[in-house]
Amino acid sequence: MTELLEIDDLKVAYPVRRGVIDSLTHKPRQHVRAVDGVDLRVGRGEMVALVGESGCGKTTIAQSILGAVAPTSGSIRLDGSDITAMSQRQLRAVRRRVQMIYQDPYASLDPRFRVSQTIEEPMLIHGIGESKSARKALIASALERTGLVPAELYLDRFPHEMSGGQRQRVAIAASLAVGPDLIVADEPVSMLDVSVRASILLLLDRLRKDTGVGVLMITHDLSTAIHFADRIAVMYLGRIVELATAREVAHNPQHPYTKALMSVIPHPDPQRQVQPQILRGDTPNPANVPSGCRFHTRCPVGPTVRLDRQQCVNTDPSDGAERRLNNAACLFTATGSDRDSDYVEGEASSMVAAEAADVVSSVDRWHGRRRSLGGVTRTTP
Ligand SMILES: Nc1ncnc2c1ncn2[C@@H]1O[C@H](COP(=O)(O)OP(=O)(O)OP(=O)(O)O)[C@@H](O)[C@H]1O
Ligand code: SF4
Ligand SMILES: [Mg+2]
Repeated sequence: MTELLEIDDLKVAYPVRRGVIDSLTHKPRQHVRAVDGVDLRVGRGEMVALVGESGCGKTTIAQSILGAVAPTSGSIRLDGSDITAMSQRQLRAVRRRVQMIYQDPYASLDPRFRVSQTIEEPMLIHGIGESKSARKALIASALERTGLVPAELYLDRFPHEMSGGQRQRVAIAASLAVGPDLIVADEPVSMLDVSVRASILLLLDRLRKDTGVGVLMITHDLSTAIHFADRIAVMYLGRIVELATAREVAHNPQHPYTKALMSVIPHPDPQRQVQPQILRGDTPNPANVPSGCRFHTRCPVGPTVRLDRQQCVNTDPSDGAERRLNNAACLFTATGSDRDSDYVEGEASSMVAAEAADVVSSVDRWHGRRRSLGGVTRTTP
């Protein structure tokens, strides 16, 4: 069955500017491999989280989906139609169907526009609403769906007359007003006060369940992804290194990078906080990606009975048969089912199943709390 969004082997490389000497000596131009072979699916009504550290290529994927960045290769299909092969005119329709929520709600709203104008503008661009009064009704409905009730209270306000959370709700309302099929939310709460983050994420969660809109949520924060997403794609240096359901990631992370991210999630009970696994070194330069497994320069897994570390330097686990074997791009996890016990043999991996279970129990408690709230946000901070 065709998914709402299907990304296959997406690659985006940005050329690096050469200096005068490099140009004169005809040194080959380098490329930043921002996205380097990504496969991803988002279904209708599904929330997929794209998680990874700064610079791993998350926003580049988002911009490619919006048609704002031209991929070097690969395909991005929306309901089966390839966006990368579309004309500017066809892309205009895609821009209605794919709406972006940005990190900074203050920067994404025009400070000169009142709320009603902010929401009406994309409606006018996409020809939505036959008359002024029809658009007014749609604007009020979009505001109320985002929890800004009564809508009349907010229609004439400017961005500076609202809180950060309210501004983000207006941005979401402006997206909803054009009837999107997919919302791409790039760090939608990272600039908001902690007290309003959950309510905005609960709002996105409720909207996708009520309206069937697919959500691709980009975040640095694996715990947020576990709380809200159906599936999680963990990215490292331009590639997805693990793709699994949120439950699988929380209960049984496979890739050493995912395990390291899990280990730094704070536990509500300090007594049960595990030793955070801090990865050594910096993220490699995406213009000079390491050979073999691109994580090998930072991977805490040492040689084991079944793993000769030299394999990691020589073999890319994302290639060919290794890629088909499992959903984690690691030679180690591809080799068998008793992989957790092998991790204990590894030299520095501190993330064992019991520690993951601690985090999972806090996640389960959170889900229980969401159920008791009926998954509905009741405040409009
Ligand atoms: N226009 C550009 N020209 C050259 N390089 C770029 C450009 N945009 C992004 N990059 C590089 O591509 C890589 C991926 O950038 P991207 O913004 O997609 O990362 P990100 O995962 O969204 O990071 P963050 O979490 O900090 O927002 C980075 O190395 C970045 O420096
Ligand atoms: S393939 Fe090797 S270096 Fe890469 S994640 Fe697995 S164990 Fe680590
Ligand atoms: Mg980004």
